[in-house]
Amino acid sequence: MATLGLNTSGYISSAGIVHKGKVVAGACEERFSRIKRDRSFPANAVAFCLRSANVSKEHLDAVAVGWNPVINLKKDFSLLQDANRLRGIHLTYNINALYGVLGEWGEDERCMVNAFGVQCHFVDHHLAHAASACLLSPFEHCAFATVDAFGEEDSMTMGVFDGARFQTMEHIKFPHSPGSFYSYITEFLGFKRDSDEYKVMALGAYAEDSLSRLFYERLRPLLNFGTKDGRFFFQVDLRFFDYYMFHRPYDFGALEGVLGIKRRTKDAPLKDEHFAIASALQRCFEELVGCFLRHTKEKTGIEKVALAGGCFMNSVYNGRLCTTENIFKDVYIPPFPDDSGVAIGSALFVDFERFGVRGEAMFQNFIGPSITKEEALQVLKKACLEFESPQCIEEEVASLVADGFIVGHAYKAMEFGQRALGNRSIFADPRVKDIRAILNRQVKGREWFRPYGVSVLEDHVSEVFQCDQGFKAPFMEKVVFVRQSWASKIKGCLHNDGSVRVHTVKEDENPRLFRILEAFYKKTGVPLLINTSFNLSQMPIVATASDAIACFFTSGMDALVLDDFLLVKPHVQRKRGR
Ligand SMILES: [Fe+2]
Repeated sequence: MATLGLNTSGYISSAGIVHKGKVVAGACEERFSRIKRDRSFPANAVAFCLRSANVSKEHLDAVAVGWNPVINLKKDFSLLQDANRLRGIHLTYNINALYGVLGEWGEDERCMVNAFGVQCHFVDHHLAHAASACLLSPFEHCAFATVDAFGEEDSMTMGVFDGARFQTMEHIKFPHSPGSFYSYITEFLGFKRDSDEYKVMALGAYAEDSLSRLFYERLRPLLNFGTKDGRFFFQVDLRFFDYYMFHRPYDFGALEGVLGIKRRTKDAPLKDEHFAIASALQRCFEELVGCFLRHTKEKTGIEKVALAGGCFMNSVYNGRLCTTENIFKDVYIPPFPDDSGVAIGSALFVDFERFGVRGEAMFQNFIGPSITKEEALQVLKKACLEFESPQCIEEEVASLVADGFIVGHAYKAMEFGQRALGNRSIFADPRVKDIRAILNRQVKGREWFRPYGVSVLEDHVSEVFQCDQGFKAPFMEKVVFVRQSWASKIKGCLHNDGSVRVHTVKEDENPRLFRILEAFYKKTGVPLLINTSFNLSQMPIVATASDAIACFFTSGMDALVLDDFLLVKPHVQRKRGR
C-alpha cells in the first residue's frame, strides 16, 4: 500500500510516492515532457512513480494533494475572488486528471473523494511544506517555519512538530508575502517572476555599497515587520505592490516613484542601480526572514528547525543562517523546499497520519528516473557510438577534469530537486580562472553574472570555506564565503564577493561522487569540483540516456559518462594520445 502525492498548483508540477514513511520515488513532470517548469498535470511523473515503486493502482491506498481548495471556497478573501474561484477547480481537477492517467472509474464514480477506491486528501499547502521538512529531517521533534509566495491564503507559518502532530502557532496571510515581494522586484529588474529570483539573488554581489544602502533606505520602509505582544507581524505597503492582481500586468509606477528609477526591460543593459536594488532587496528579505526565524526560536524555545517553502531556495540566506546568524543549533532544509516538494510533503503527511511511522532522514534525493547499465549500453550501441569501459571510472573523470575538460555525468537515478547533486551533473575544474566563461560559451549559455556551485568533500569544507567543522549542505542549498588562503586556488568558482554555493559530499550518502572528488583531491590537492546541472539553457535536466547523449553532442562538453561507460570527443582523444 502506498500514498501518491501531487503538486499541481505551483510553478512546476510534480508527483511522489511514499510507503510507510519512506519516499520511494518522485519526479517533476518537466523531466519527462522536456518542457522547462512544466505546469501541466504530472501524468508522466505519476506513471513513473507507480512503475518505479512497483505499485499498481489497485495497491494505491491514498492520493495526497499539496493544496487544499476547500479553504479558498469557504472563505471570502476579497482581494482574490477570481483566483479563489479558479482554485476551487482543484477539487475536481486532480481526480479528473488521475482518471485519465490511472484508467477506469470504480463503482463509486460519483464520489469524487473515493475514485478508484482511493481516498483523495487535500493537505494545506504550508502544512505540506512543513511535512516535507519535518518528516525528512533527522529531528525527532523540532520547530518549523515555512515561507513562500502564497498557499491557499498563507505566506508564512511557524509552529512545532512534536513527533506526533504538527501544531501551527502563527501564520501571515497573503498579500503580505516575502516570496511575492521578491518576485515583484525580480520582474521590476527585467527578469521573469516566479522563476528568476535566483538570478536576482546573484546580481547583488556586484553592488556598490553606498548605492546599495541608498536603495535599501528607499525599499525598507515599504515593509513593516517585527514582534508585538508575543506575535510576529508583517505588512507590505500595498500602495507600491500590485502583485495580488493576478490577472493583469503589474503597474510599476508607484515603485518607480519611490525607488527613483524606471523598471528595467528584459534586454536592457544591467547597470549599477540594478545591482544595488538586487542587493537591497536581498538585505530586506534577510532581515524579514531572520526576524521571523528569531521569533520562531523564541516562541517555541526549540533549538532545531525544519524549513521549507520557496523562499528557502534562497541559498545566500540559507548560508548566512547557518554560518553567521546561527539562530538555531541545527537546521534542516529538504532538497525540494519549493512547490515541487509539496507532492512529497503532502504524501508524507497523509502517510504519517495513517501509519504514524517515519522513514529515515533524507540526505540524498536520487529518487527520480534511472539509467540502467543495460539502457546505457543499448542506447550507445543503437547510436553506433564508440565508448570505453574504464577500470576505474571515478579516476578517469577526475583526470579529465584535472586536464581542463568539461565532463557530463549521468548515472543511475536522478535527483528530484532543481539542483544536480552528482547523478545528472556536469563537472569542471574550479582552479581554471575563466572556467565560468568557458562553461557558458561551450555548454550552459548562462548570463555572465551567475556563478557555478561546487561539490566539496564534507570533511574538507571548513578548511576551504568560512564555516564550522560539521557544516553540512547535502543539497547545494547554502552559499558560503571562501577562506582567504584558498581564494587564489579556486578562482574559477568564486562569485564577485568571494562566495560559493556548496554541496557537501559524504561517502555513505553519495559514494560515486565521493570517489570522484577523492580522486580529484589526490591529483590536485583541491577537494572540490564545479558541479552544474546536466542541461542546456532553458532545458530541464536530462533524464534518460538518450537525453544525455543528445545534450552531449549539441554542446561543447568534452566527455560523457553514462553509467560506467565513457565517451570522449575526438579532440580529447587526440590530446590524451589514445
Ligand atoms: Fe509554496
